[in-house]
Amino acid sequence: SGSTTEFDLGITCDMHVHVRDGAMCDLITPTIKDGGVSVAYIMPNLQPPITTIERVVAYKAKLEKLAPETTFLMSFYLHESLTPELVAEAADLGAIQGIKCYPAGVTTNSNQGVDPNDFSKFYPIFKVMEKKNLVLNLHGEKPPVADGDITVLNAEAEFLPALKKLHQDLPNLKIVLEHCTTADACEMIQEINSDNVVASITAHHLSLIVDDWCGNPINFCKPVAKLPKDKRKLVEVALSGDKHFFFGSDSAPHPIENKGKCCGCAAGVFTSKYCIPYVAQVFQDNQGDLINFKKFVSENALTFYKPANIKSKKHCVLYKNEVQITNEISQGDIKVVPFKFGDKLDWDTKW
Ligand code: NCD
Ligand code: DOR
Ligand code: ZN
Ligand code: ZN
Repeated sequence: SGSTTEFDLGITCDMHVHVRDGAMCDLITPTIKDGGVSVAYIMPNLQPPITTIERVVAYKAKLEKLAPETTFLMSFYLHESLTPELVAEAADLGAIQGIKCYPAGVTTNSNQGVDPNDFSKFYPIFKVMEKKNLVLNLHGEKPPVADGDITVLNAEAEFLPALKKLHQDLPNLKIVLEHCTTADACEMIQEINSDNVVASITAHHLSLIVDDWCGNPINFCKPVAKLPKDKRKLVEVALSGDKHFFFGSDSAPHPIENKGKCCGCAAGVFTSKYCIPYVAQVFQDNQGDLINFKKFVSENALTFYKPANIKSKKHCVLYKNEVQITNEISQGDIKVVPFKFGDKLDWDTKW
């Protein structure tokens, strides 16, 4: 549309989404479309993690039943049980688009993750991924060690040399540094300056800083939101239209009782329900226009992933309309509190 208050966003993409399983999955999966997203890249950190073709195919079928118009791109969880042969077969079947790598012990269900100080034992798998055009999705945080100097504040920056080495060793491997949160990470992606190395950015990291999650479990996630200068850099690269950066919400619902725990608050911010409006608000509040918005929430991701089978060709249309963010979404015993609950947004989506 030519109107300045209505934008045709084409095929919108959220390249990092947690939809869980069981009753939570039933509740959350349809909210992807509510939030204006057409293509969703689904995370594999279920309990147990997704590491077989049988499970990923069944999971995808279940999601498609819950949300027939949403395109689900699926992933494996990088794990010792994966073999190069299995990964090749999964790629040939189109069962997965990538593999998510969780350093052990850094976040929800990452206890079976890997040691980022030494990826070499996975190189046979990475070589197959290179050949088959699969994407390696990196949770870029260095795990803490006892009496060491890694904290939630420097864990991402400390991980960046491992990213650089991976790209040097495997220059044709497509890598996404997921949910990047620091100026250092953005600068590393810009410095590498390869079509094969990009980063996803969440909606919440475009507006949160440390002070916003310290004492507020709704805003607590991993990696944690960092300093004002980091947020400014994330906003700058998102608004710039740079093809190395695209939207991945890391929408990560947890039952409210797990967020409210006084010890061991669950990490994750739930954003799927209002995804595209949250990001539109950031563009509007920071630069007053939505130039490059479509690049960030659609084109840059499509260029990188080149998804083969888009289930619905309907375009997402963003339009000016005040939206009140609900205090909770719930079904039966499950209650999830969305990011910025109770606030208003200036933008809405329709199909
Ligand atoms: C194309 C498609 O829909 O088939 N992908 C896309 O629009 N994202 C295929 C392609 O361009 O690779
Ligand atoms: O905050 C987070 N929550 N970060 C992650 O990496 C995982 C996610 C989850 O699964 O809850
Ligand atoms: Zn992650
Ligand atoms: Zn995640």
